[in-house]
Amino acid sequence: MAGEGRPRAAERVSLSAGTHMRGKRILLGVTGGIAAYKSAYLVRELVRAGADVRVVMTEAATEFIAPLTFSALTKQPVGTDLWSRDQATGSAIGTRHIHLATWCDCMLIAPASANTLAKLAHGLSDNLVTVLALACRKPVIVAPTMDADMFLNEATQHNIAVLRERGFGVIPPAEGEHASGLYGPGRLPEVEVIRAFLKKLFDRTAEDLRKVKMLVTAGPTHEPIDPVRYISNRSSGKMGFALALAAAQRGAEVTLVTGPVSLETPRNVKRIDVETAEHMRAAVVKVARQQRVIAMAAAVADYAPALPADRKIKKDGQNGGLELTLKSTPDILGELGRKKRKGTLLVGFALETNDGVSNAKEKLSKKNLDVIVLNAYTAQNPVFGSDRNTVTIIDRKGEEELPSLEKIEVANRILNRIRKLL
Ligand code: CTP
Repeated sequence: MAGEGRPRAAERVSLSAGTHMRGKRILLGVTGGIAAYKSAYLVRELVRAGADVRVVMTEAATEFIAPLTFSALTKQPVGTDLWSRDQATGSAIGTRHIHLATWCDCMLIAPASANTLAKLAHGLSDNLVTVLALACRKPVIVAPTMDADMFLNEATQHNIAVLRERGFGVIPPAEGEHASGLYGPGRLPEVEVIRAFLKKLFDRTAEDLRKVKMLVTAGPTHEPIDPVRYISNRSSGKMGFALALAAAQRGAEVTLVTGPVSLETPRNVKRIDVETAEHMRAAVVKVARQQRVIAMAAAVADYAPALPADRKIKKDGQNGGLELTLKSTPDILGELGRKKRKGTLLVGFALETNDGVSNAKEKLSKKNLDVIVLNAYTAQNPVFGSDRNTVTIIDRKGEEELPSLEKIEVANRILNRIRKLL
């Protein structure tokens, strides 16, 4: 047959044949590391899946792979530095890329070097990648990639934990052999893993609470006995912070009023710090009228010393003991329930050691709530300080008992219920 044995003429294949990322705008930040070359495969796959990808690189990344590779794959210019000048106009080319922070649906930093993770954890912005990450209000995902010892170093682990707490997505690195010969975690995950992570993110962040104004309270309160002592409880604030983070990720405009906790502020959340139940009441009342949803996850102290001493109480003259007179604190949720305006959705939390569901249902109706989240307080579910929680979500129509879940997942389940009631 004519032509047999000869190579066929090249066919033009459509790189955007896939669909599951169609229309998704992904800003990829590439930082320095041997794995930077693998980002080229990642870009190719994302483009194939229908995504619109733009790439920015740190100077170190350009030592490992040329910007031209990414611009060929994306058919877009690649930003590499903040200060390079347009020869014709003299304006800084890099600063023009800042619009990418608002253009994108998410920013992915892969590989994310130890240096870049450290900068992000501290809000440094000395190159195009870190500037854009700082300016970006959309989800920012990092794929920590480095030599195993650098990854396992306490400083790197701490920086990753800080970023996670603030709501950055973290794609755990793969384990394997490194260019250095070390074996361990720190390798860039397979393209498939990264793509699946992004897909899950896009499926989840449907922004179904877009522009919903939501107030969340969290943490314990401290009720002073004297200038150096206080009464409090074991609340860590993690459940309230998870709720604030999840709501912000779903597009809500979140205000977080929190008692004293040692947690990072979730991204895109307005945080107000308070100390006592009285302070919390004042902060909540001030903003309550503008809210569509109010969720009181704080473990507000029920009692406070009636007369806190203005000087440190000395042991001398106490006859071996100390009696404190306590007074009730304001019941913030009770007040919100009494004054509830039409259109406000009120969510309370309850912690019961016995008769949980019936007690919680009673609280739901007594405090005029729409939803109450019952924490199961058992040996298996210590609630306080844990990253997991077992709850039952109760509203006027019924109850849903959840298994033990990560608090961020519990938060999303609570938000699903809220979403249905809105
Ligand atoms: N709450 C509040 N103000 C207080 C105390 C609690 O707003 N002074 C809120 C909490 O944020 C939580 C809910 O009320 O959402 C808990 O209800 P509450 O009746 O106080 O529960 P308990 O403190 O567990 O009450 P009890 O000890 O009577 O079970």
